[in-house]
Parts: sequence; structure tokens; C-alpha cells
Amino acid sequence: MTTRKRVAVLISGRGSNMTALIEAAKIPNYPAEIVGVLSNRSDAVGLETAAANSIPTAVRSHRDFPDRNAFDAALDDVLRGWNTEIVALAGFMRLLTPQFTERWLGRMINIHPALLPSFKGLHTHEQALAAGVHLHGCTVHFVTPGMDEGPAIMQAAVPVVQSDTPDTLAARVLKAEHRIYPRALAALADGRVSLVDGRVMLTPDSLNDEAFVWPKL
Ligand code: GRF
Repeated sequence: MTTRKRVAVLISGRGSNMTALIEAAKIPNYPAEIVGVLSNRSDAVGLETAAANSIPTAVRSHRDFPDRNAFDAALDDVLRGWNTEIVALAGFMRLLTPQFTERWLGRMINIHPALLPSFKGLHTHEQALAAGVHLHGCTVHFVTPGMDEGPAIMQAAVPVVQSDTPDTLAARVLKAEHRIYPRALAALADGRVSLVDGRVMLTPDSLNDEAFVWPKL
């Protein structure tokens, strides 16, 4: 197998999506390795999971920097120190500057707990219930300067049922997140998907990959 892409994961909390990526990277022939986990919060539970998996961790608190540019420059230093090739945001709760997103354009992805472009921002499950949609889900997308605006790489839909609360719906969506994030990262890492002129391009063989169309629940 060719060399695996070096992936850094950015988190702020629990890190269950990060864990899904770490577990996927243990599979032989997975095209990416997790080379570091970076958090803006020292109390992020995911840091312990990463350390337990012998993955280097770093903390850079936004509170220690005068502005977003300085904070993002510090993040960039850490990423470069790990020779990062791909950045995976996984519950990273800071907005990134346009300079940072431009630097990593096409090489930085995020998982959002809604079927974008519906329900951007926070409290997506409350938003979905309030809107009365019957299908909700999650999206892995390239990160661009606009929040939750980058083009979608992969999506999974889950049903909304009558008895759902934000918590029950969140749990159903989270399972789908854990399923598609490793698949989307693999697709980016092995070159099946790329960002070209602001659009997601799939290689011809990917067009037959049902993961891009309708990931199984
Ligand atoms: C996930 O729902 C993700 O989609 C969103 O933030 C949450 C992070 O959860 N961006 P976890 O830290 O991965 O468990």
C-alpha cells in the first residue's frame, strides 16, 4: 500500500467522532493515520481517548491568544509540527479565520449533525424537530470560510420519529456520523474525492460507491 495520509483531528469535547476515526485507522489498508489530536480545551474528554491510543495530543486555548489570527497561527504551528496533510474537525467549537481555512482548503473536512444546507450552526436537532422534517442526518463537508457552508462530501439520512426528543434524535444521528466520517476521510485520503473550483469531484469509480449516494443506516 502507498503511504497513509497524515491526519490531525481537532476537537473540543467528547471526541466520539475522533474515536471513530482512530478506530477506522486501525483497519489494515485504511489510507490515513491519525498523527495528532489538538484541542482548544484542556478538559476535552477526547484527549484522554487519544492518549490511551498512544496518539500525540496538544492543547492550545483560544483564551491564551489576543485574537483569532494569533490563535489560528498557533494551531497551524502544531499541525505543521505533526507534518499534517489532512485536518479533520470533529466537534471543534471555534470558528476559524479565512486565512486558516484558505491555507487548508481542500485538505480540511468537518462533520456537521444535519443534512446541510439545512440547519447550520448549533442545536441542529432542535432545529430539525421545530421544522417538522421527516428526514434528518449528518454531513461531512470541506471546510470553507463560511460556517457550515463548504461543499458536501458525504451525507447520511436518518428518520425522525414522532416520539423523538433532541436527545433521541441526536443519538440516532451520531451513529450515522460515526459511520460516514471514516468513509469520507478514507475517500479524501486515497484521492477518490477532491475539491476542484469549489466543487466536490469524485473519481469515476467512486460514482459506483453507494456510500456517496445513500449510506446504509
Ligand atoms: C458531533 O455531533 C458533530 O457532528 C458536531 O459536534 C459533535 C461532536 O461530538 N460537529 P463528538 O465530540 O465527536 O462526540
